[in-house]
Amino acid sequence: MASHHLPSYLALILAFHLPPLAASQWPSCGKNGNFTTNSAYQANIQALSATLPNNASSSPTLFAVAAVGTRPDTVYALALCRGDANASICGYCVSQGFTDAQKLCPYSKAATVYYDHCYVGFSSNQTLLSPTGGDNGDLILTNQQNVTAPVRAFDAAVGALINATADYAADNSSSRFATGEAGFETVDKAKPKIYSLAQCRPDMAPADCRSCLAEFTTYVQFMSGKQGGRILGLRCNYRYEQYPFYTGPSLLQLPAPSIGAPPSQAPAPTPVNATPISPMPVDVAPGSPPPPGGGSTGNGAAGILAITLPIVAAILASVVI
Ligand SMILES: *[C@@H]1O[C@H](CO)[C@@H](O)[C@H](O)[C@H]1NC(C)=O
Ligand SMILES: *[C@@H]1O[C@H](CO)[C@@H](O)[C@H](O)[C@H]1NC(C)=O
Ligand SMILES: *[C@@H]1O[C@H](CO)[C@@H](O)[C@H](O)[C@H]1NC(C)=O
Ligand SMILES: *[C@@H]1O[C@H](CO)[C@@H](O)[C@H](O)[C@H]1NC(C)=O
Ligand SMILES: *[C@@H]1O[C@H](CO)[C@@H](O)[C@H](O)[C@H]1NC(C)=O
Ligand SMILES: *[C@@H]1O[C@H](CO)[C@@H](O)[C@H](O)[C@H]1NC(C)=O
Ligand SMILES: *[C@@H]1O[C@H](CO)[C@@H](O)[C@H](O)[C@H]1NC(C)=O
Repeated sequence: MASHHLPSYLALILAFHLPPLAASQWPSCGKNGNFTTNSAYQANIQALSATLPNNASSSPTLFAVAAVGTRPDTVYALALCRGDANASICGYCVSQGFTDAQKLCPYSKAATVYYDHCYVGFSSNQTLLSPTGGDNGDLILTNQQNVTAPVRAFDAAVGALINATADYAADNSSSRFATGEAGFETVDKAKPKIYSLAQCRPDMAPADCRSCLAEFTTYVQFMSGKQGGRILGLRCNYRYEQYPFYTGPSLLQLPAPSIGAPPSQAPAPTPVNATPISPMPVDVAPGSPPPPGGGSTGNGAAGILAITLPIVAAILASVVI
């Protein structure tokens, strides 16, 4: 953290105060140059937008990478849908990503747009295709609503759940996708469970997935006491909420913290204690009932604050100094 130079991030810190977008889409625009109207680069993005949605939605892992065009106008792209997405929402979401990228990051050679159900990124930089490369501006999102439960107990439960879900995604899922729920009724009867999800690019090795998520879990402190939060990156992401926001049963279940445990040292149930549910197919069967009280609209009312990770690094640096 100390190696980050604060002044270069001041402009980004101002962006921190901008209101969040009304719709549930979060762009991360590249800063390495623009293309021009009617250029070969633009045509290559158009070509990708015509095929990548179907390639992603028809892939068993809901993932596609592609390179289109010849140097120096080659565009590299990737699209990944959430592990529980069905093919129709996946294809629609990826297609929307290309449309929105043109609006949200006009003429930017590199852009990533994140949604609830997918993300889409493209760049002139070939490292985007590599399962260990391609950072393109990671985002932290938090629900602006505070929890009503004691914050320490809540944070401890969230931290343990996210870690267990991340471990499961890396080590116990061939698609690098996991969902988990933790009991919380011993602390908050009104909101008795916490739900989480973790996902990596499905072409990542377990160790790379684990280290990507481990790095992100160190930022969970920035979601302290918030009803929901997520970290979005090109290689991995996680999210938690106090309501079920994914389709299908949770792959992992953690017990509620025991009553009377000191909140500051709430025991972090380890993945070993987890009760895995029998593995479910990544593609949830059509006709599965929607999760009660969940769905993709849950982030609308409360408002979500987005910050980019370099800003967090700057905040950390300023705390350390
Ligand atoms: C790219 O375009 C944006 C908006 O159109 C502009 O703000 C930015 O300065 C341009 N960047 C470069 C490197 O030309
Ligand atoms: C989509 O898949 C088809 C068939 O595998 C392939 O020929 C095509 O290049 C892919 N398109 C992209 C943009 O990846
Ligand atoms: C491509 O991206 C990688 C990783 O983000 C970066 O290290 C490298 O400098 C970039 N290359 C170019 C030509 O911008
Ligand atoms: C949440 O708590 C923080 C810190 O205690 C406070 O500044 C903020 O206004 C609260 N947010 C809401 C929506 O109540
Ligand atoms: C979760 O994992 C991170 C990174 O590996 C670690 O720093 C943190 O202490 C863990 N948190 C809990 C509650 O286990
Ligand atoms: C995950 O896989 C590891 C190693 O393959 C195994 O030891 C562990 O019990 C599994 N955990 C769950 C929750 O299935
Ligand atoms: C696909 O998922 C979306 C979003 O969860 C849902 O609204 C839609 O009904 C699903 N379609 C099918 C065919 O299951």
